[in-house]
Amino acid sequence: MSKETNLVSRREFLKDAGLVVGGATVGSAALLSACKNNGKSGSVTKYVCPLDSKEFDSLQALKDHYASAHEGVALPDFKTLNINGVDYSLIINDYWSLAWVLRETLGLYGTKVGCDMGQCGACTVIVDDKPMYACLLFACEMEGKKIRTVEGLADYGNKLNKVQQAFHDANATQCGFCTSGFLMAAQALIERNSSPSEDEVRHALSGHLCMCQNFKKTIEAVVAAGGK
Ligand code: FES
Ligand code: FES
Repeated sequence: MSKETNLVSRREFLKDAGLVVGGATVGSAALLSACKNNGKSGSVTKYVCPLDSKEFDSLQALKDHYASAHEGVALPDFKTLNINGVDYSLIINDYWSLAWVLRETLGLYGTKVGCDMGQCGACTVIVDDKPMYACLLFACEMEGKKIRTVEGLADYGNKLNKVQQAFHDANATQCGFCTSGFLMAAQALIERNSSPSEDEVRHALSGHLCMCQNFKKTIEAVVAAGGK
């Protein structure tokens, strides 16, 4: 798929989702940029009306549009989520999980949803340095926290970080569905314990399931990552 086609389809998806996306400057254009750069950067340039998908260059313009086109309808409050170092101002329904917002609002599909009930670990992200199941977190309660997803692990230029490289070197991935969750749990472990033992790795990864049964190589990879 060409880059241009990809950008257009992403924008159309956002419009269909009826969401407002933003940061200090906000909108779907910045979101596209963030996706292209592993979720680490992006300057948002558009405010998107959640009711009719019209785009505006400023929040005030969107407010003016609301006042004239949607008289009597209050513009929902924005909540700001910091994800991989980027602030996103979003309209978030109270019942949306963080996993849902990451995937369906921001297009950060690296966070996987397996069980959606806190049993498999596929949705793990790092919140304020702790690995957490994103399917069990309410996105609306994540303001003020630093959220990291698998898209934020690799350095710019697609250079794998040492945990990712260790997974690659040890063939610690088969179908890959569980891998981003394992990576985030392993990353959090390595950050608090730079050289974990095999038992410590087993304990840290005990909340994760791999349907491909690739546990042995995964544990080897995390132990190796700690030795680097
Ligand atoms: S999808 Fe969250 S723990 Fe399984
Ligand atoms: S590699 Fe397939 S589920 Fe883990």
